[in-house]
Amino acid sequence: MLQRFLKSPRTIGSITPSSAFLGRALSEKINQKCSNSVLELGAGTGPITAQILKRLPSPELLTCLEVNQQLCSRFRASFPDVNLLEKDCREIGTLFAGHKIDNIVSSLPYRSLPKSTTDTIFEQKISLSNSQTVISIFSYDFLFSDYHRRYPIRLIDSRSVFLNFPPAKVYHFAL
Ligand SMILES: C[S@@+](CC[C@H](N)C(=O)[O-])C[C@H]1O[C@@H](n2cnc3c(N)ncnc32)[C@H](O)[C@@H]1O
Repeated sequence: MLQRFLKSPRTIGSITPSSAFLGRALSEKINQKCSNSVLELGAGTGPITAQILKRLPSPELLTCLEVNQQLCSRFRASFPDVNLLEKDCREIGTLFAGHKIDNIVSSLPYRSLPKSTTDTIFEQKISLSNSQTVISIFSYDFLFSDYHRRYPIRLIDSRSVFLNFPPAKVYHFAL
């Protein structure tokens, strides 16, 4: 992860993978009886994927997106049963239009993305949501603290995860 960070710091966004504590906090709203798809955006080497899978009745329900080719190869070696798309998350609106999605879990490097890109991806998440969908997201700052005021979405839960480097703030949103 450090090597990849040094090569493309803006895309990778962190020198270490997320902790299991952060992975658990991000995936805690996944209903264990989940029957529709779960999307994970920016899967990297899969530390959050591992926590999501613990909550899912079947790995087939999960689809992950990761844009970095080398991270995709490492991910596939660790999670051969998970559907990983080597795609840019800015395309989710078209890639998943019409799909029923229960959870969208995201660990994109928001701190280094242009704000307009973060907002575009967030708007696409809302467009993919139905009344059951939970959008779970984190940042290392308070970037998402006012998104429920800016967008037609409710903040259903939030908390800090100190056992992560750097400490992170997790938000769960729903329509
Ligand atoms: C902060 S890392 C998180 C990796 C891993 N999920 C974790 O928690 O350790 C952000 C990940 O998002 C990926 N990424 C960045 N921009 C992306 C995009 N537009 N589409 C898909 N993946 C992207 C990066 O390649 C990187 O693996």
